[in-house]
Amino acid sequence: MFYSGEVHPFRLPVPSLWLDIFQKIRSMGYTGVSFYIDWALLEGTPGTIRASGVFALEPFFDAAQKAGIYLLARPGPYINAEASGGGFPGWLARLPGRLRTADAAYLNASDLYTSVIGAKIAAAQITHGGPVILFQPENEYTSATRGVPFPDPIYMRAVQAQYRRAGITVPMVSNDAGIKGNNAPGTEGGLDIYGHDGYPLGFNCAHPDNWPKGNLPTNWRDMHYQISPATPYAIPEFQGGAFDPWGGPGYEKCAQLVNHEYERVFYKNDISFGVTIFNLYMTYGGTNWGNLGHPGGYTSYDYGAAITEERGINRTKYSEAKLIANSILASPAYLSAFAEFGTNGTFVNNSALSITRLQGSDVQTQFFVIRHTAYNSKKSEPYRLTIPTSAGTMRIPQAAGALTLHGRDSKIMVTDFDLGGINILYSTAEILTWQKYTDRTILVIYTGSNEQHELAITESTLGNASTVDVDPRFIEGAGESVSAASTENGHVVLSFKSAAQDRIVRVANLYIHILDRDSAHKTWVLPFTPDAPTSASVPYYIQPGVSNAIIHGGYLMRTAAVIGREMALTGDIDRTTTIRILGGAPRPLTALYFNDMRTPIPFEQDEATGIVTAELEFREPVIKLPKLSKLQWYTVDSLPEVSGNYSDAGWTPATMTNSLNPRRPTTPTSLYASDYGYHAGSILYRGHFRGNGRESSISLTTQGGSAFGMSAWLDSTYLGSWRGHPDAEAHNSTFSIGPQTAGSPHVLTVGIDHMGLDENWNVGADQMKKPRGILDYKLAGHAATDVSWKVTGNLGGESYHDHARGPLNEGGLYAERAGFHLPSPPVNGAGWRASAGPTEGIARAGIALFTTSFNLDIPAGYDVPLSLQFKNGTGGEVPAGSTWAAYRAQVWVNGWQFGKYVHTLGPQTRFPVPEGIWNYRGRNWVAVSLWAMEEGGAHVEGLELVAGQAVQTGLGEVKVVESPGWKGREGVY
Ligand code: GAL
Repeated sequence: MFYSGEVHPFRLPVPSLWLDIFQKIRSMGYTGVSFYIDWALLEGTPGTIRASGVFALEPFFDAAQKAGIYLLARPGPYINAEASGGGFPGWLARLPGRLRTADAAYLNASDLYTSVIGAKIAAAQITHGGPVILFQPENEYTSATRGVPFPDPIYMRAVQAQYRRAGITVPMVSNDAGIKGNNAPGTEGGLDIYGHDGYPLGFNCAHPDNWPKGNLPTNWRDMHYQISPATPYAIPEFQGGAFDPWGGPGYEKCAQLVNHEYERVFYKNDISFGVTIFNLYMTYGGTNWGNLGHPGGYTSYDYGAAITEERGINRTKYSEAKLIANSILASPAYLSAFAEFGTNGTFVNNSALSITRLQGSDVQTQFFVIRHTAYNSKKSEPYRLTIPTSAGTMRIPQAAGALTLHGRDSKIMVTDFDLGGINILYSTAEILTWQKYTDRTILVIYTGSNEQHELAITESTLGNASTVDVDPRFIEGAGESVSAASTENGHVVLSFKSAAQDRIVRVANLYIHILDRDSAHKTWVLPFTPDAPTSASVPYYIQPGVSNAIIHGGYLMRTAAVIGREMALTGDIDRTTTIRILGGAPRPLTALYFNDMRTPIPFEQDEATGIVTAELEFREPVIKLPKLSKLQWYTVDSLPEVSGNYSDAGWTPATMTNSLNPRRPTTPTSLYASDYGYHAGSILYRGHFRGNGRESSISLTTQGGSAFGMSAWLDSTYLGSWRGHPDAEAHNSTFSIGPQTAGSPHVLTVGIDHMGLDENWNVGADQMKKPRGILDYKLAGHAATDVSWKVTGNLGGESYHDHARGPLNEGGLYAERAGFHLPSPPVNGAGWRASAGPTEGIARAGIALFTTSFNLDIPAGYDVPLSLQFKNGTGGEVPAGSTWAAYRAQVWVNGWQFGKYVHTLGPQTRFPVPEGIWNYRGRNWVAVSLWAMEEGGAHVEGLELVAGQAVQTGLGEVKVVESPGWKGREGVY
């Protein structure tokens, strides 16, 4: 089973944190990770691939292997992914051909990327001892505009050939947008394995409790049998959260929409279809740092995922997902099971409930997945089952009373479930895991609250049946709540109600741990590393039923190793914590280590059960953060363009008359940023003309993508701004101006905030080519040709300067062109002055850059999430339709743009920045650009550094990424 979480390395540009994410996913019981690669970040300069530093893939592969994670590689070239251009570099906007088609221009343009990246992935395939076992070329090749051949087998064959030529030999899987059958094996241009995705609750997080009627998929298994019966059922993307647009409700709402109840109902529904390649998108979302996102989203890509943007695992959905994955991991029979019977009411006596049966093809095990017929029901429904078992058809529970399904829930119940020789005849309580150790077998099951359950064991499989003994000494806790009886027809039947306390029932050599769900959430199943964790470089992968430790407690358990009679664990704690090693500790255990492999910690081992109890001591860290508002800042004007004596001699003349853009320019020369090599951040224009006395107004149609903003100046006079709206990708502005003296020279300066390029979802529409810049202008009293334009974006355009941070991190503001957002800018140089910082603001419409530096000294051994928090009028989120003073800000930490803040739109005000971008034990630079879009200027109400929940961690050293500082740049203008 490839049970996987989606992670994008490019959304966490700190390679030494990748192991953290992999371990957190591995500790959920997942066996895999799927990842995209963002072409736009690697080939900013056409013809040159830069895949080193934070963009290198090898450290990602190494970390996966170290954590025991298999990989599904999805390098596109088209990825979608809420990335700028859907992963397409901006220069593709100039391509004389259609994107994602067999047009030679497109295939040639993608040849270099696919060959270089393909070869790197090929070297990491399992056939070369690496972690990559599956490959997805293209993404959601599912629909096209009219007139474009689709699906085009020639194109799909060409993309496959690009990667096969690069050495990819593992199977190739598709990712159809919805189960439509495109590129199924056996069709022209088809792939090895058919796969499709699904986002049943969609992407509006505003009403997180609303599960619309009919949104639970019901026909997927049937469809898969029709489309590709001979390949494993693959869902390469299933909704694990949702993205959120500018002005949206915020990611906590998305985490509520796609919460633990969603996981129970929807993930188990996919399991009822027999899915065996299953990837949850996203499992860790990360950050759209440095302009890498599309215009439909803001800086955070938290996604409401199981692991938060700050790498936290405190959402219940993390723990719930862990239960579901572990139950499948513990069920080898699932892999060969068929859901042949569809939803069938005959197994249950309540029509408000539906059951899908999965039946093993070569073993007797059956899985019964129960849910509400109206999947979104919040009712409690009692039920009894009538189901076939190896002991004949049984009515369950056998005891009086009924089972219950409470609210938004779904359960996987089993019959004839093999515990390495012991047969569980049936269990209505869900299985978390089981392990067979040399002296005993442990089974961990769990209940929801206020439930009754029954579990039966076939006596003859318990070894020497005559010695079967349900030992009341081992019924810990509320003993009354478990009753056990041997029936006449050869079963041991346990009946029990849910209880807050954990209970252990011993039947012969089988130890059954009965937990309630909250307690189950705290349980970890860890494969033993073959070596002490400190030296664990050997890959270790999961094998169901053998060689795993079962541990209860702790914020996170990462690894477990047994060396002789000693045991070593690594993990994270957020408080002093008692852990219990339920299974896997040697008997007797002679030493126990946690994180620190030199000093053993005290523990107790119970004689009878072998359970080890130990207290992990949390030492409160002292975290001192500077108050940013109290620091010395420096500021420099970042709009010298309007100051009169400015020279734009170094700017790019916008003289192109032969633009290949699908939107044919309606201006005398193209004013599209992509035609001149500018693809990210702010774009600035200078329009020169001579007065004739007939001027009265200037109209501008500008386009920067959803939520963009713009400002305009005539000479040094501010004309006005468009403050932006989430639904407006373009805007018409008209500014009145007075008549100008005949023959006098004038310049119009226009700044446009580029929000990223559109995605390119529909083949043929070439949406990523949608221009950014000035679409039209009208200077009243003049012919259009009276104005001659110049343009700039980031310094150097596609010959960008900052190879460490990639092609998108810088925009076209003067301060960015000069590199003043980088560490150690020349704050004593001309034009700079001391300042109180961004809260001081600027007194008129314009742009300024503020910078400061300070030392951090965060104690080692702790994972402390740090964020930059913008304070605003209410101290909370930006209200919808806010009329607050219009300004836009960008924040750089050590030169990395980790925040783009639009004061009038929000919703994001807190910007997490990972350790490694921060130097936790050294000097740090924070820079803020402030673009005031109000006549009277604007200021930031507050900006502070804030720490989240600190955990004492077993992760190990986080290396600070290479962050080159400011150097005088040649040709800065
Ligand atoms: C899918 C797509 C992903 C991502 C997702 C929504 O359709 O394949 O790349 O965009 O939607 O988050």
